[in-house]
Amino acid sequence: MLYHYIQAMKNIILVAGATGNLGTQVCRELINRGAVVRALARLESDAAQVRALQDFGVNVIHADFNQPSDLLSACEGISCVVSALAGLHNVIVTAQSQLLNAAIQAGVPRFIPSDFCTDYTQLPQGVNRNFDLRKEFETLVDDSDIKATSIFNGAFAYVLQYGIPLFDNLNKTIAYYDGKKDRKIDFTTVNNTAAFTAAAALDNNAPRHLRIASFQVSPQDLADLSKIIYGEAFELTDQGSLEQFLAFINKQRQAHPEGEQELYPQWQQMQYLYSMFAAHHPHLDNTRYSGLNWTSATNALQQVQN
Ligand SMILES: NC(=O)c1ccc[n+]([C@@H]2O[C@H](COP(=O)([O-])OP(=O)(O)OC[C@H]3O[C@@H](n4cnc5c(N)ncnc54)[C@H](OP(=O)(O)O)[C@@H]3O)[C@@H](O)[C@H]2O)c1
Repeated sequence: MLYHYIQAMKNIILVAGATGNLGTQVCRELINRGAVVRALARLESDAAQVRALQDFGVNVIHADFNQPSDLLSACEGISCVVSALAGLHNVIVTAQSQLLNAAIQAGVPRFIPSDFCTDYTQLPQGVNRNFDLRKEFETLVDDSDIKATSIFNGAFAYVLQYGIPLFDNLNKTIAYYDGKKDRKIDFTTVNNTAAFTAAAALDNNAPRHLRIASFQVSPQDLADLSKIIYGEAFELTDQGSLEQFLAFINKQRQAHPEGEQELYPQWQQMQYLYSMFAAHHPHLDNTRYSGLNWTSATNALQQVQN
């Protein structure tokens, strides 16, 4: 333990997107591990979020992403950049590339891109607009000399609270596709993702991809758990094939081009659901770092209003 703490103290980690939901938690977990944390904020970032970061020991640097010198000085002496930026092409490709270029110029050895999703390497281009942006950035990072680590966490577990078709707590239904009630789906809490990401940021031997899940549950598991937790079984509903679902999503996307300017338009949420069923983490890296307490499906479902 002391050895890990001393190792962490030698590291200065730069977190981009630190004012966001995941980014703030990553900063907290890094501080807990004894790392020195520098965070990028923008002039327009929420002042209260910035203060909260400073209050728990983060050194916040205000930077304009369009000013290479701002990003370059933020990257000086950094051992790993963690990006938890969220947005469309202008963020995931443009802003992350600006940060990547600064990191390369400053000689930063490692970069963790803002992937934090289902393993998109299993999915073809075109089935998930937000994953396509990550794939575009992946090509840029892999063409550079920096050592990258992508963390695939499936869906954040809090989506189970949103009444999504996979777990519709309003109508008490659980959707499945391709007749596969037993298809396992990967879920990870934001806290677990943040703790694992902090450990990976301090792990200079981390591989290109790491796959995690707090829990993996099938539609059938969710139905069984709903009976135990809420005293009533949600109804499993056959939604036809994934192929039909994808064709429907593509039509919705064509009919709603205004969604191209939104981060999570309805058709993108459907793309996310499709991806959760179409890609799976067969091998998990959960045990790579010690001391992580993975949230169970039961605990996550207990937080869903019924
Ligand atoms: N797997 C899942 O189910 C799931 C669900 C949600 C999110 N995610 C992923 O998790 C990651 C973090 O998401 P989050 O929900 O934590 O995001 P968030 O709370 O919305 O925070 C976004 C962060 O990005 C920064 N940002 C936005 N636009 C920017 C720009 N143009 N230039 C520089 N910084 C900018 C924001 O900074 P300001 O404070 O300055 O605006 C903020 O710090 C993303 O990769 C997201 O896609 C995954």
